[in-house]
Amino acid sequence: MKLFNFSKNFGVDLGTANTIIMHNNQIVINEPSIIAIDTTNNKVVAVGTEAMNMHEKTHQNLRTIKPLRDGVIADYYAAEQMIKGMLKKAFDKRSILNQKRFLICIPYCTTEVEKRAVRDSAQQVGGTDVYMIHEPIAAAIGIGLDIQEANGSMLVDIGGGTTEVVVISLSGIVCSQSIRVAGNAFDADIIDYMRREHNLLIGERSAEKIKLEVGAVISDIPNPPEPCKVLGRDLMTGIPKAIMVSYKEIASVLDKSLIKIEEGILKTLEECPPELASDIHERGIFLTGGGAFLRGLQERLHRKTNLPIHLAPEPLLSVTKGVWKALDNLEIYKSVLLR
Ligand SMILES: Nc1ncnc2c1ncn2[C@@H]1O[C@H](COP(=O)(O)OP(=O)(O)OP(=O)(O)O)[C@@H](O)[C@H]1O
Ligand SMILES: [Mg+2]
Repeated sequence: MKLFNFSKNFGVDLGTANTIIMHNNQIVINEPSIIAIDTTNNKVVAVGTEAMNMHEKTHQNLRTIKPLRDGVIADYYAAEQMIKGMLKKAFDKRSILNQKRFLICIPYCTTEVEKRAVRDSAQQVGGTDVYMIHEPIAAAIGIGLDIQEANGSMLVDIGGGTTEVVVISLSGIVCSQSIRVAGNAFDADIIDYMRREHNLLIGERSAEKIKLEVGAVISDIPNPPEPCKVLGRDLMTGIPKAIMVSYKEIASVLDKSLIKIEEGILKTLEECPPELASDIHERGIFLTGGGAFLRGLQERLHRKTNLPIHLAPEPLLSVTKGVWKALDNLEIYKSVLLR
């Protein structure tokens, strides 16, 4: 028997980079986690994609805010406004139910204070029943791993703010590392490099575009992407200029951050009890989150650990799929839901 009334259920992956909201087994919102505010009256001008289009192009009366930092809510007011705005976008006013049941994913390292911030934000937008689930658990469910069996599964979720490395067995997290190095840090590495090596000032959005087009973590990729054009401002002359950048250059730029992620994986393996370590030896490591798309990541981690490395089928959606599956099979998953 299902305890939940289907139509009032909302699943939320509140990510540092992207927020995904599900309702009735459908994604109703999948947009960047950002809002734009009119600073003269503190009113929200744009939410999600529209706000992202304004990012880094604003004037003094307009400010863009990313309400999440390192996977958790850093700006409560902005987070509330963002969820409200996104729900409004997805449903016309009449169809928004006042009594909503939310299942929201949170990073494993979330503190009680941070949990309260998430709960308060959900209540502010009409949530009467608010449940939370740890993001890596949701990702594992979403990938289709049987988290309940007495068998170790290792998961690496490289998101926007954090990389979470976990070993899951019997519905719990046995050992884990949360590393504050993920998509945003890669973008920052690229910005730094362009400034240092090419005297070129570029913004976050250009850095992300470079990462998507030629982002790589090894310098011997079988089907390499074409070099990509980078536009920015020359620091010496102040004049806009363009340069070309190759995937090999980006692989060396991202190396330091990748080493930190590898250290986190090795540390988690070291802390893993031997019986679970042998399960992981058999089954390998599962990669998810947007960072899993980086070219050569599977190969690089295989070279480092000698373990089989599997890519989640849709890395940006693993958590969302898991959140919904848990909400839809509450009886089965109630031991992993948090209040
Ligand atoms: N093809 C790609 N190559 C490299 N990085 C990518 C690619 N596509 C998306 N990303 C990056 O993945 C990140 C977003 O991933 P994801 O949606 O899993 O993060 P999130 O859940 O919002 O963040 P967090 O889990 O840290 O709160 C962004 O930094 C984005 O730039
Ligand atoms: Mg995430």
